[in-house]
Amino acid sequence: MDNQVLQELIKTALSMRKMSYTPYSHFNVGAALLAKNGKIYTGCNIENASFTPTNCAERTAFFKAVSEGVKEFESIVIAGGKEDEAELDYCPPCGVCRQVMSEFCTDDFKIILAKSETEYITYTLPECLPMRFGPKDLLG
Ligand code: THU
Repeated sequence: MDNQVLQELIKTALSMRKMSYTPYSHFNVGAALLAKNGKIYTGCNIENASFTPTNCAERTAFFKAVSEGVKEFESIVIAGGKEDEAELDYCPPCGVCRQVMSEFCTDDFKIILAKSETEYITYTLPECLPMRFGPKDLLG
């Protein structure tokens, strides 16, 4: 991936943590999802007093994109951690978000976990979700 685009994605994911609505966990996650058309879709986690309606940052980004008719993606950058901690650790996507990625993404989709603008690690979707159940299992 173009380094300038990667830097923009990382900065966007880090800054999206400011938009998180997390009165219960105070754990803020930001996401920046790069579509194959070059557009970036942003997401933050949005919690709920009833807990189960909580939406993760990654799914917010995916659902924003899909709701606008975009269904092909290259990569996602995820940045998360406690709202009051100065330094982040790597924040891996939860199982539900991995399954949502599986619906729309091919095996070369990159999942990039960022701690800062310069520290990040990259995984592919099959590394994060081996033996995934996906559209091909139902549609052939
Ligand atoms: N969270 C995300 O936004 N993405 C993940 O993949 C892991 C968890 C959020 C959900 C909840 O608001 C908070 O982090 C603590 O679980």
